[in-house]
Amino acid sequence: PSPTDSAPPASRLSGEPPFLAAARGEEPSRTPVWFMRQAGRSLPEYKEARAGTSMLEACRTPELVCEITMQPVRRYGVDAAVFFSDIVVPLAAIGVDIDIVPGTGPVVAEPFRTEADLKRLRNLDPCDVPYITEAIGLLGKELGTTPLIGFAGAPFTLASYLIEGGPSRDHAKTKALMHSAPDVWHGIASRLAAICGEFLRVQVEAGAKAVQLFDSWAGALSEDDYRAFALPHSTAALAGVAQSVPRIHFGVGTGHLLEAMAETGAEISGVDFRVPLDQAAKRLPGKVLQGNLDPALILADEAPLLAATDRVVAAGRDAKGHIFNLGHGVLPESDPGKLKLVVDRVHETTAR
Ligand code: CP3
Repeated sequence: PSPTDSAPPASRLSGEPPFLAAARGEEPSRTPVWFMRQAGRSLPEYKEARAGTSMLEACRTPELVCEITMQPVRRYGVDAAVFFSDIVVPLAAIGVDIDIVPGTGPVVAEPFRTEADLKRLRNLDPCDVPYITEAIGLLGKELGTTPLIGFAGAPFTLASYLIEGGPSRDHAKTKALMHSAPDVWHGIASRLAAICGEFLRVQVEAGAKAVQLFDSWAGALSEDDYRAFALPHSTAALAGVAQSVPRIHFGVGTGHLLEAMAETGAEISGVDFRVPLDQAAKRLPGKVLQGNLDPALILADEAPLLAATDRVVAAGRDAKGHIFNLGHGVLPESDPGKLKLVVDRVHETTAR
């Protein structure tokens, strides 16, 4: 018999890195922490590394991707790295004329509006993104036991950029197209699902240990519309890596969609800061939860920041598992020292 066969079952503590243990619903040695948008934005060393390089060019430069992905791991001691890339990288890789404009976001030169536009969305081939595989290979040597999270944008969020032509508050053209030309909508969204699924698969094959599907703007949809127009395509995108790694699914302002989004099959539900985790735990039995400190609180004084951090940790105890995060991305004006304070507080108060 192997030594583990005879070991006393006294402790259920997982020997896995805390992020992976929690993601699988096992008992981690401490509550794991990472931050959406932890790379870039708030870090001076990021601004220095990026100087003079456009966002998409940076995403295609493996040494730079590796360095930027590692920066928050080194500085904060977070329990996971998130791959430095962007949700529009696979679209640019198949030849869509898309750019990331600083201070604005993704901008599409010729928006997608008709049946004729469908042919502009061909399948992604791993050969289209050699820099992704190469960057993750470099990261394998740097990361040690810290797991890497790969990601993709969900079909609805990506489609919104393609149809609106850029960032949108109301997603009006997208919603109008869904209802007026459902065949065109489902054609665009199903092609995007295939692209997302392949983009996730490339990252997992290269070494990503978990993935997150960002449906950042899904909260703009009613539950009926979400179920009819987004859910089937997100489900298809996530199916590409089912059974291989834990899958996180996240959206903003999605309190009304938590149950519907959980139906995509993702093992972990990202919860934004508007829904307390203990309430989310009641609504999503069996799901591991990720979240959900309001990112604005990083700008608050130390005492209220730590009190709010403790409340998120306490509320997360009701879930099957908890991965501490912000309720959306790090705000650009965040002080890195405050983020470090939060990581240390979660680690100190949850060590087992
Ligand atoms: O921790 C990380 O930063 C990881 C890498 C990452 C980026 N984008 C880098 C980035 C991730 C996970 C994303 C995902 C992403 N991109 C999402 C989903 C997450 C979310 O916030 O809901 C969305 C909607 C996008 C599209 C996008 N790309 C936006 C809205 C912007 C911001 C524009 C701006 O300047 O404010 C980008 C650009 C972008 N993506 C930057 C970075 C570091 C800034 C680029 C720059 O500094 O030139």
